[in-house]
Amino acid sequence: MTEGELLPAETRPLFHLTPKIGWMNDPNGFSQYNGVYHLFFQYYPYRKKWGPMHWGHATTKDFLKWEFMPCALAPDTVPDSGGCFSGSAETTDDGKHLLMYTGVVKISDLDEENFIQTQCVAIGDGVDYQKYEGNPVISYTDIPEGLSKYDFRDPKIWREQDGTYRCVVGACTADRDKKGRILYFKSSDGLKWEFISVLAENDGTLGAMWECPDFFELDGKYVLMVNPQDVLQNDQFNCGNVSVAMIGTFDPETGKFTKEHAQLVDYGIDFYATQTLLSSDGRRIMTAWMQNWDSTTYTFRSLRWFGQCIIPRELSVRDGMLIQTPVREIEQIRKNRVVYENVPVNGKLTLDGVSGRTIDMTVRIRPEFSGSYRKFELRVREDDEHYASLVYRPAENTLRFDRSNSGTRRATTHTKKCTLPDKDGELTLRIILDRYSCEVFINEGEKVMSNMIFASPKAEGISFINLTGSVFIDVEKYDLELD
Ligand code: FRU
Repeated sequence: MTEGELLPAETRPLFHLTPKIGWMNDPNGFSQYNGVYHLFFQYYPYRKKWGPMHWGHATTKDFLKWEFMPCALAPDTVPDSGGCFSGSAETTDDGKHLLMYTGVVKISDLDEENFIQTQCVAIGDGVDYQKYEGNPVISYTDIPEGLSKYDFRDPKIWREQDGTYRCVVGACTADRDKKGRILYFKSSDGLKWEFISVLAENDGTLGAMWECPDFFELDGKYVLMVNPQDVLQNDQFNCGNVSVAMIGTFDPETGKFTKEHAQLVDYGIDFYATQTLLSSDGRRIMTAWMQNWDSTTYTFRSLRWFGQCIIPRELSVRDGMLIQTPVREIEQIRKNRVVYENVPVNGKLTLDGVSGRTIDMTVRIRPEFSGSYRKFELRVREDDEHYASLVYRPAENTLRFDRSNSGTRRATTHTKKCTLPDKDGELTLRIILDRYSCEVFINEGEKVMSNMIFASPKAEGISFINLTGSVFIDVEKYDLELD
């Protein structure tokens, strides 16, 4: 049987990375090596469930078409017998691809199962990787006292101008509060590491353990990204596992980061575990898991895969805030441009040529005059019975995504809201749809909402609804097609 017969194309996203079969969580080792981009991922090939972690591996030239490589790491040595957890990649002086990851060893404490966590490396040529015999390269005995050996993971490695290596690793206090810490290390060869400092710490207001850190310079600022667990809902952050970008300054003398501003990286339902690379053309590009730990029951049982990555995003800092736009490569796969300008929306409107499951569509919404409408709704994935919606309320400046009417029978979170700056009823939404997802870039990337949608494949409709006054829209829509 051919692969096509086994896995019809329709059962996988068109341009978002998923494993062909099995479970995926965090993206790992996102890097440019030997002229192509590599994206590894937390992978359990044998079931659509989290299990002893492997590293799946794919490469791409454009972030849209993915070529699958052999599985790069499996839990087959003593320090990683329980799994190869998240990590990152760099290129060595002798042109090798160095993977740095967390090896875990399972132990049982009374009634609890725990993993002892240390940092390990593997070295390869872009296809095959050999684990370093000296693993682990950073042990839990190398970190400050009072931190947990069960929560010390997800090294993000990079190289400095002088060729030396740095990495940041997530950690937390060993007490019940599990307050997150980001540890900062240096090395001359990527193998012998020395602890420098606690780069940043959780004062107790941002969840517990901080996973998957990343640290880089961008537009004259330093950005520390962390993925805290167990966050309590407040005005600024959603509850659960969230991704946070902190923007601030860094003192190389003390190895301390000082936060000036913090924001959620994504306001949608399905987003976690960010990781970035610096491309050779100077772009800071981010990927993430388009999923959240608390909504893993939301899927189609018939699919062979679980988990996908977002469309990679170009990052910048504007007025001290993080701005995100889909990688520009997406423009190469746009087809069939459809444009409408100054269209009044009174009631429910559909537009010829504006529908589909794999599209890139920008909608500009404008009031006729200040306060001329109260609610604007945009539906995607619509058929006679179902849809997912985006509802904008200009007086509140809120945008709410809601997929509860998309045909789901699961009672997980299906709606998320985000607050926007007051633009007097004006709003721009760029919506990227793939077969199983909807990513919404708001006001040229000021905020983003990423969501999975498991709706009937036949639900391809898009409509615009205003029952509350006078509003106009401009629409520019492309189909996304791979050659
Ligand atoms: C984040 C995470 C990481 C860990 C990995 C294990 O989603 O919990 O901290 O390395 O997943 O699969």
